[in-house]
Amino acid sequence: MRVAKIQIAALMFVLILITSTSIAVTPKKSASPQQADIEKRINALLARMTLEEKLGQLQQLDGEANGNYRPEHLDLVRRGLLGSTLNVRGARRVNELQRIAMNESRLKIPMLFAFDVIHGYRTIFPVPLGEASSWDAAAVERAASVAAAESAAAGVRWTFAPMLDIARDPRWGRIVEGSGEDPYLGAAMARARVRGFQGEDYSQPDKVVACAKHWVAYGAAEGGRDYNTTEVSENTLREIYFPPFKAAVDAGVGTFMSAFNDLDGVPASANPFTLSEVLRGEWKFDGFVVSDYESVKELIKHGIADTEAQAARAALTAGVDMEMVSRTYNQNAAQLLKEGKLSQREIDEAVRRILRIKFRLGLFEKPYADEARENRVIASAENIRAAREVAGRSLVLLKNEREALPLSKTLRSIAVIGPLADSQQDMIGSWNGDGRKEDAVTLLAGIKAKVSKSSAATKINYAKGCEINDDSTTGFADAVRAANDSDVAVLAVGESAEMSGEASSRASLDLPGRQLDLVKAIKATGKPVIIVLMNGRPLTINWLAENANAILETWFAGTEGGNAIADALFGDINLGGKLPLTFPRAVGQIPIYYNHKNTGRPPVDPKNKYSSKYLDMPVTPLYPFGYGLSYTEFRLSNLHLSQPRIRADGSLTLSVEVLNTGTRAGDEVVQLYIHQTAASVTRPVKQLEGFERVALRANERRRVLFTLGSKQLGFYNRRLRFVVEPGTFQVFVGTNSADERGLEARFEVFEK
Ligand code: NOJ
Repeated sequence: MRVAKIQIAALMFVLILITSTSIAVTPKKSASPQQADIEKRINALLARMTLEEKLGQLQQLDGEANGNYRPEHLDLVRRGLLGSTLNVRGARRVNELQRIAMNESRLKIPMLFAFDVIHGYRTIFPVPLGEASSWDAAAVERAASVAAAESAAAGVRWTFAPMLDIARDPRWGRIVEGSGEDPYLGAAMARARVRGFQGEDYSQPDKVVACAKHWVAYGAAEGGRDYNTTEVSENTLREIYFPPFKAAVDAGVGTFMSAFNDLDGVPASANPFTLSEVLRGEWKFDGFVVSDYESVKELIKHGIADTEAQAARAALTAGVDMEMVSRTYNQNAAQLLKEGKLSQREIDEAVRRILRIKFRLGLFEKPYADEARENRVIASAENIRAAREVAGRSLVLLKNEREALPLSKTLRSIAVIGPLADSQQDMIGSWNGDGRKEDAVTLLAGIKAKVSKSSAATKINYAKGCEINDDSTTGFADAVRAANDSDVAVLAVGESAEMSGEASSRASLDLPGRQLDLVKAIKATGKPVIIVLMNGRPLTINWLAENANAILETWFAGTEGGNAIADALFGDINLGGKLPLTFPRAVGQIPIYYNHKNTGRPPVDPKNKYSSKYLDMPVTPLYPFGYGLSYTEFRLSNLHLSQPRIRADGSLTLSVEVLNTGTRAGDEVVQLYIHQTAASVTRPVKQLEGFERVALRANERRRVLFTLGSKQLGFYNRRLRFVVEPGTFQVFVGTNSADERGLEARFEVFEK
């Protein structure tokens, strides 16, 4: 009898282990004495904590919009019932709250202060999509590192960044916060940002812990409508949506944020597969996961919980450790525990992960921000210089007919026109941290500063022309006059900063309001028209592409945007940015992305009626992924493969020569794409597997090397196993994904 009872108990225990989805991960760094010490200290704390105090660590609450804490939070902190806030910032305010935690709470567990430091804290860099357009990991790392230093100086040691959502739908407003449509580029940017924010060791006083968000597939929102449902096959998750997150884990990211979206019927904030099986089980992530804003409570609206208690249970058991703003954990966990619907182990595990990051941040030893340092670090001359340089590298030249650009510095007069030409607020984009519009240099200010330094006394004729998004044309006459009085017209058109970002999806991608009519009116003057685009997503700009003399994509270029754009317009810097996503010709083409699958009837022959095409429009985009021009020219040649055949577990080196054939120094981004012609599952027509931004003087040449091994050649087969299959691989090296002058080669992979 007794034996049977023991057996049943053992079986039950095993069953609990199997059914409980929350997976405990022994910290990767457990080998280090420092990490072992942290685990010991966590155990000691856990042993002393009451259930209420534990739940306090799982709670994050919002401060006030101006960065202050809420007075009603003081008491919670004092009683050990609040572990973290978001939006509270500024060394003095943060210290005030922290002092209560450290001096007045029973266990003296430090608070963790979070904020959305997305593309800068006070010194604002280009929006993330702009930064990604630099195709320059070092520049992006530098931007994140400045953001980290300013943020940490203001007492904020946790940023809700980087945003790693792959997005293939420009209607989705949050496309501006990511790195575009490609997993390889996305992973490179993820690594750079995590390194920039966290450094080697985020306990350093100028570093912050990063947060990989939004886990996962948030960017696949149906119809591009924010928060909408997503349906993504596991294959596509693994091949397209996961890689930037995996790269962040490999780079040591400390936290994750669970997304708002329903993913294949299980909301991402209660999804055991993504949160526990993949993130903790497969990837051994040992940091913590915070929910997105009230996304735990929203599980009720999603329809997987009727009550907040059910929502809390679903999220916590799936692997969401900290709850942002809603309070379902705090209010229900005790009862759930009593009813056996939550285990003590699950709660402890969540607390453990949060404490682990607080320890790694060094908050127990150094809980306070140095108030004397804050003003020295924030918006320092060096940081502002970095913002200008990174902005310069993020600009993309889309058109430059008959060398309309660069502008001469000896022009008699320049018209600067458009609703975005002198807008400080828009220049710093959405999610602009603690950025101040009064710091921002507009395009008008940048151009004025530039010409004031030349001896030509160029006259600047400014006219706004119209608003970004209304119907009035009353300003057109002034704008036309300004153009008529000038040698050239520079027009800043696009979207307002708030037309992209969260909850800012658009069904039309046209220039809003009367802006296109304004451009047409200026074009009718016969003056050269230079378009400076400011926007948070690809726009449908076919008319501009055909009729403007030059188009410069500047996204929202940040605090120093106007100076950086002026540097580019006048040729003080060259342009080397490339599009991190595809520009469609029309919304009807969406989804349109370069790494699509083939069909059985590809639209190669326009005369074939039964091919995969549109009757009313080409299938090709307006501008392809990876596209961008320069003031100089480059030629690729001598593509060379180290071997014509390799084993499936082997690798090969590929080299290509790039020559600057023009007359001025410039940068080219050499891009390597591959395609396996036949495999057990269909492969994208092209996939990026290497790139390098190379700086060359006129006539200089350089050999660029790439390595292709199983990481690049492999894919997930039908059984979702990562494999390299024997077969033929095509290689394409170009300066964009559809480069007609690109080079091609092939190699074979044979069985191991
Ligand atoms: C909601 C957004 O989805 C997320 O990206 C952000 O970090 C949080 N709000 C906090 O502001």
